[in-house]
Amino acid sequence: MSVRVFETKEVQELLRAATNIDSNDGNARFKQIVHRLLGDLFKAIDDLDITPDEVWTGINYLNKLGQDGEAALLAAGLGLEKYLDIRMDASDKAIGIDGGTPRTIEGPLYVAGAPLRDGVSKIDIDPDVDAGPLVIHGTVTGPDGQQVAGAVVECWHANSKGFYSHFDPTGAQSDFNLRGAVRTGADGKYEFRTLMPVGYGCPPHGATQQLLDEIARHGNRPAHVHFFVTSDSQRKLTTQFNIEGDPLIWDDFAYATREDLIPHVAERSGGTALGLKADTYKDIEFNISLTPLVQGKDNQIVNRLRASATA
Ligand SMILES: [Fe+2]
Repeated sequence: MSVRVFETKEVQELLRAATNIDSNDGNARFKQIVHRLLGDLFKAIDDLDITPDEVWTGINYLNKLGQDGEAALLAAGLGLEKYLDIRMDASDKAIGIDGGTPRTIEGPLYVAGAPLRDGVSKIDIDPDVDAGPLVIHGTVTGPDGQQVAGAVVECWHANSKGFYSHFDPTGAQSDFNLRGAVRTGADGKYEFRTLMPVGYGCPPHGATQQLLDEIARHGNRPAHVHFFVTSDSQRKLTTQFNIEGDPLIWDDFAYATREDLIPHVAERSGGTALGLKADTYKDIEFNISLTPLVQGKDNQIVNRLRASATA
């Protein structure tokens, strides 16, 4: 039997009391958001006739999500992080910012504090017998097409098991394995010498995978490399590229793939002279075009809790 109580005076007063919305005390913006989200939840319970059993299943799920530390992973998997990108793309379009390397999601596995080097950094610290050498390089340019000196390019990616250092449940990697930061010189160039990553899968017994199983979705990403690119005179770029040829490129559980973020993978020789583990290596050129500040400000800085470590 379905009942409708959301619009009643009793429920509307309950919502206002529960969120203290009529008081001048507390954080007004926070109260506004909680009032709206709680109201949307109440309304959904009414509209869908969500049962008490279902509500408690959801609440217990939130406890597991927190215990597993996977709220940010779920945000990626449910497209919330992609949605924020869609909104930022639309916001850029509305103020006439076009072009530049496309943004895509940060994901939850960045670690601040990677050693900063000039121009080139070799970031494979730990041995990984299953991964072949990879060189990632490119030029950072500004909105005027000129090379950007002094830009900081940070990258991070998984190893051949799909695990990120610092978060690796096997404990096989040191904190900054496959993570690096390079400052560009006058030529705007950066280069990372590293190992080829493979795709990432959600922890199989974690809360994210549990939810995905219920809705018959997989929790896998294609092989990819994350980037932050910062510069004093342009906006910060948060992006990734996918490794060309990965079968999941257009089936990414986190919806991060974009047309312009699938650079060609070339095969080269001469790796020994570069200090790589084999002479034949994969080479990816990924040029980065930054976008202008907005009224002198970088409106792309996203504040969120991030891991950090000391190299
Ligand atoms: Fe990732």
